[in-house]
Amino acid sequence: MNHELPTMNYQLPTIISILALLTITACRPDESPQVQTPHNLQLPVGFPPPLMPDDNLLTNERIELGKKLFFDPVLSRDSTISCATCHLPSKAFADNLPVSVGIHGREGFRNVPSLANVAWHPYFFREGGSPSLETQALGPIADEVEMDLTIAEAAARLRTDDEYVEMSKIAYDREPNAYVISRALAAFQRILVSSDAPYDEYIRGNQSALTPEQINGSNLFFNELQCATCHTGFNFTNYNFENNGLYENYEDEGRARLTTQTNDIGKFKVASLRNVALTPPYMHDGSLPTLESVIEHYNSGGSSHANKSLLIQALNLTAQQKSDLISFLESLSDETFINNPEYQ
Ligand code: HEC
Ligand code: HEC
Repeated sequence: MNHELPTMNYQLPTIISILALLTITACRPDESPQVQTPHNLQLPVGFPPPLMPDDNLLTNERIELGKKLFFDPVLSRDSTISCATCHLPSKAFADNLPVSVGIHGREGFRNVPSLANVAWHPYFFREGGSPSLETQALGPIADEVEMDLTIAEAAARLRTDDEYVEMSKIAYDREPNAYVISRALAAFQRILVSSDAPYDEYIRGNQSALTPEQINGSNLFFNELQCATCHTGFNFTNYNFENNGLYENYEDEGRARLTTQTNDIGKFKVASLRNVALTPPYMHDGSLPTLESVIEHYNSGGSSHANKSLLIQALNLTAQQKSDLISFLESLSDETFINNPEYQ
């Protein structure tokens, strides 16, 4: 990366003030409006119930409002950038750029993560700096390299739009404000469930859903190598923060940016691998262009670093094993998810 890291994408003071704002507005009574329809998230086999805040239970009206906001560039200063500019449905709600590009072409410093199954993440951002989808949602709107609009300005814009006022009153019984914007965006993102990849069909019993190469790759991934110690469970992550040996010197110090602890340098949230073949380039900075380069990275054992996980060791894989692993990772691509009309 040739650019510096002047600011954290979402600075702690911003997050704290947002939290304060949410707490104040959350004290207002959340009277249940009349015309709401509860939304029952269909839980796929093997998925536990997601974390769901009591003050933001899913209803179709909340999801509809969140979806409209997610795709609407009105939330950026010059009305050019929406959440979906960086989180594209066809790319499993990520993009294919090394680092994000926001308003006026301004570059961020991190690669855009997929939003598939974000409802199950215990915290957000690659260093874990945001505690909930509700708090996260306000970050990119205010961030000067992403959408660059204060929440007050965003809410004021929406209050001049009859449709938003109407939808907001129905969904949250109040006019558009930070409370509504953050919760509606969170509600929409909670329905982004990816559970229909060929790999899912295979574990549900369809033996022909995977090719023999993919089955070999899954044996390597789960049994012979240590991949699934970190990339485990239905979302292929244990959500821990790990240093996987990318660098000797980390320009982005990851978890240490938040904790300032030396032993957190170079640690990032273990990435979910769902739809991973759709979201190159890879790693927090988009520095590895292809799945081939990711496998070469793990095969080499990575760079030496005091914090590197002991699980990251040279592997001596054969060419066939490398290609089987890649085939397996490709079996996590979910066509149903990226084409789901509910999400567009
Ligand atoms: C300019 C590109 C850009 C825009 C616009 C954008 N994001 Fe993001 N998003 C990112 C990047 C980059 C990250 C990773 C940031 C980090 O880890 O520090 C991210 C992270 C996230 C995460 C955390 C995912 C995880 O796995 O931790 C969520 C949720 C999210 N964005 C939702 C949104 C929503 C909602 C909007 C619209 C209000 C939005 N984003 C707008 C680039 C963008
Ligand atoms: C010690 C825990 C750990 C082990 C073991 C591990 N990974 Fe990772 N993996 C990570 C972390 C952490 C990241 C994210 C690093 C970053 O953001 O820079 C990651 C990222 C990835 C990515 C890129 C995801 C993306 O969207 O950018 C792929 C692909 C991947 N790992 C595959 C594997 C495979 C295959 C193996 C086994 C050979 C493996 N990992 C073993 C921790 C681990």
